[in-house]
Amino acid sequence: MSVLGGKKILIGVTAGIAAYKSAWLVRGFIKAGAEVKVIMTPAAKDFVTPLTLATLSKNEVFSSFVNDDDTDNPTWNNHVELGLWADFFVIAPATANTMAKMSTGTCDNLLLATYLSAKCPVYFAPAMDLDMYRHRSTQETFEKLQSYGNIMIPAGHGELASGLEGQGRMAEPEDIVRFIEQHHLSQLPLRQKKILLTAGPTHEAIDPVRFIGNHSSGKMGYAIAERALALGAEVILISGPTHLAMHHSRLTIERVSSAQEMYEAAQLHFKEADILIAAAAVADYRPANTATQKIKKKSEALTLQLESTIDILATLGKQKQNQFLVGFALETENELEHAKAKLVRKNLDMIVLNSLKDKGAGFQTETNKITILHKDGEKINFDLKSKTEVASDILDEVIKKTDV
Ligand code: CTP
Repeated sequence: MSVLGGKKILIGVTAGIAAYKSAWLVRGFIKAGAEVKVIMTPAAKDFVTPLTLATLSKNEVFSSFVNDDDTDNPTWNNHVELGLWADFFVIAPATANTMAKMSTGTCDNLLLATYLSAKCPVYFAPAMDLDMYRHRSTQETFEKLQSYGNIMIPAGHGELASGLEGQGRMAEPEDIVRFIEQHHLSQLPLRQKKILLTAGPTHEAIDPVRFIGNHSSGKMGYAIAERALALGAEVILISGPTHLAMHHSRLTIERVSSAQEMYEAAQLHFKEADILIAAAAVADYRPANTATQKIKKKSEALTLQLESTIDILATLGKQKQNQFLVGFALETENELEHAKAKLVRKNLDMIVLNSLKDKGAGFQTETNKITILHKDGEKINFDLKSKTEVASDILDEVIKKTDV
């Protein structure tokens, strides 16, 4: 998945020969993990069929205000709804005719009406013959559209449908996808940040088949990873054993089992990280000796000798240079006092406190209720929320304090 993963993209196809490339454009956005809908001008249907675009986008294609497939019950294609649905509106190819109409507010088809009502960023990729492209009126249209905040994806040079050579070829579909990814990324607050994140439980082996572990599901850490990626960060996720999975072009997952393995993986990436978020529920103790063979049942009681694991966060806290460190504290009593002490002891910038006294907080739940304490003494209480919303609150606080 890319930064466009989960985004809703509306593609506007107008009547130019480059419309045949819109099939690849739809595929490119779908491959990036986006949801795609297509609007065509009526004349664009002469260049590429709605059936092709509907099949590739897995959505109905819109081209008129009224859907009269069922002549007895025609329905209205709502341009306002389409405009509000989209996170991005990409008009490709954009013909001279459609762009001129966009620049003057002419609104004689569904695509233009949707353009006028869209609130999201609008990208346009012109395509036409070189003299049309160079014409003063076209150049003025480009300027006018950009002055409205629309983002132009310039045409490339090359052979044109007329047989002439010059500027006017619509940018290649993969370049349009890359352009929008880069542009979207450049607007995101964490685009230049590398976040090192620990998540999930650790398993400390007793013998080849048994371990000491805890009930952490990893959901909170993975939700933070997902939100951080959506905010443009590059994420290195050191994950203890969980059944959760995630794919993203800016995510590296290293799967580990024990506290020691988690520490070694985190240590390896700490220097290059800007932010460390330690959301893992690391076992504090491990068996002093791991049996190489399965321990056999005996009649007498079994005593396990335990030793401390390394405190990953405290160890990295000691090595901290410019990194912003976020820890978690799961407490059952004297919560604030314990969390404040952990913040100081582990040299943190911020700590996220969960109290097990709060219903819906803690392990294996879909929700969490947190209090955030900052190094400067600021304290914020949050309501009970989904882990996705909590992840968002945590990262907003990080952004607030790291001045990004
Ligand atoms: N942590 C860590 N390595 C450990 C133990 C904890 O990195 N070996 C991190 C956790 O990921 C969390 C924070 O430290 O961000 C607090 O963990 P917690 O278990 O609440 O604190 P402890 O220091 O272990 O204190 P206690 O168990 O006594 O409350």
